[in-house]
Amino acid sequence: MDLSRPSVARMYDYLLGGTDNYYVDREACTELLRLAPSTRELALVNRAFLIRAVRYLAQVQGVRRFLDHGSGLPTTPNVHQVAQDIDPASEVVYIDNDPVVLAHGEMMLAEDPTTTAVLNADMRDTTKIFASRAVRRLLRDDQPVAALFVSVLHCIPDGDDPWGLVRKVAEQLPSGSYLVISQLASDDEGLRDSITGFMQEITNNSWGQVRSISEVNRLFEGLDLLEAPEPVEVSRWLPDSDLAPRQRTEEWIEYGGVARIR
Ligand SMILES: C[S@@+](CC[C@H](N)C(=O)[O-])C[C@H]1O[C@@H](n2cnc3c(N)ncnc32)[C@H](O)[C@@H]1O
Repeated sequence: MDLSRPSVARMYDYLLGGTDNYYVDREACTELLRLAPSTRELALVNRAFLIRAVRYLAQVQGVRRFLDHGSGLPTTPNVHQVAQDIDPASEVVYIDNDPVVLAHGEMMLAEDPTTTAVLNADMRDTTKIFASRAVRRLLRDDQPVAALFVSVLHCIPDGDDPWGLVRKVAEQLPSGSYLVISQLASDDEGLRDSITGFMQEITNNSWGQVRSISEVNRLFEGLDLLEAPEPVEVSRWLPDSDLAPRQRTEEWIEYGGVARIR
């Protein structure tokens, strides 16, 4: 673990108002906020989207199993707490490759080993993930599973084919399963390049990229979108009320939606 470099998990934790972050992470966020002042707002509306999407899938679609790719540091509430508010038997497998996430996650997320598990894996390693005991258990009797890729696919470079990754995961889930996707996006090419360059620099080239709206739309090809006819800036996806916080600027956004796999 290299604590002299910022990590995306700890930077996100800082933007959400968490305390599991270090000076390097906060410094990196200050620079990121200089490049794109709406970044904190964007992180908050993204987390709120994740919570709404999980609650909607549990409450309206009856989903009881969740596979959370790039789950991040524990926060309030976590995916299992949202799902278990609807049904205490709901099951969640968390996947992340950041050692700090795993250290905190094992303590705080695996509250009940029969319903939650934390897997140390790179989400690109689908062979390892689908061979793991936790995921085989999640898939044991063909119940629908919701696979979450919330604010994580921008960590995967084009060369590692995030579109193919999403397809590969969708193909391994029982039919009638769901995907929840959001991705950092902008149609401002200059902003895309400057933020991607900055994130590459601070993560020693282990980041992906900010994508254009049309590149993110391709993630949803062949899927049936729910509650919105097309992907949207995530604060516009099924808002709790007209007064719910909205992303006010469009310099860059978390863009995505919820879809059913055919
Ligand atoms: C911005 S946070 C998103 C957290 C959470 N999904 C959310 O939206 O609230 C991105 C997370 O993805 C994780 N991550 C990045 N690349 C990953 C990879 N290749 N495999 C697994 N996790 C990854 C990071 O460690 C971090 O915890």
